Amino acid sequence: MNSAVTTNNTVKAPSATHPYGDKRFKMLEATIKRYQYQQDALIEILHKAQELFGYLEKDVLIYVAHHLKLPPSRVYGVATFYHLFSLAPSGVHTCVVCTGTACYVKGAQAILANLEKSIHIHASETSANGQISLLTARCLGACGIAPAVVFDSTVLGHQTPESVGNRIKGWLQDGSS
Ligand code: FES
Repeated sequence: MNSAVTTNNTVKAPSATHPYGDKRFKMLEATIKRYQYQQDALIEILHKAQELFGYLEKDVLIYVAHHLKLPPSRVYGVATFYHLFSLAPSGVHTCVVCTGTACYVKGAQAILANLEKSIHIHASETSANGQISLLTARCLGACGIAPAVVFDSTVLGHQTPESVGNRIKGWLQDGSS
């Protein structure tokens, strides 16, 4: 998939209008295929989706509903029923650190540890001022630019604890991005 990887290793993230340009949707599709598009695999598929995206945004739920030929209301209903699924990060901004194998090998743990220390929260939590939700995901489909981190809707590669710290500094101070 030749999504827009620019020279500074930025991958344009999915927009609401073109969500399927995101490699994670391809990976989700592979999972759906593995379950042979079976509707009774909905929970397993939503698990995978949450693993990939950090939370179940609307585009993801619609994508799953479409591929399983289920009414979106049914998928939404299941996603809201189970407490282990989150439909939205509660912070104003979202920082998703990929902890998949390639990113792990290239230092994702150090990035995560540094973030947890500077924001004073753990993964899956939101900062006290409500500005940042810190999430993890298992492979964003951008292993070539590992370690990768998603800042709101932008995937950046070759990240370091310092580059990530600088990026979120503004979010912590005043909520500007
Ligand atoms: S393991 Fe992080 S992008 Fe694939």
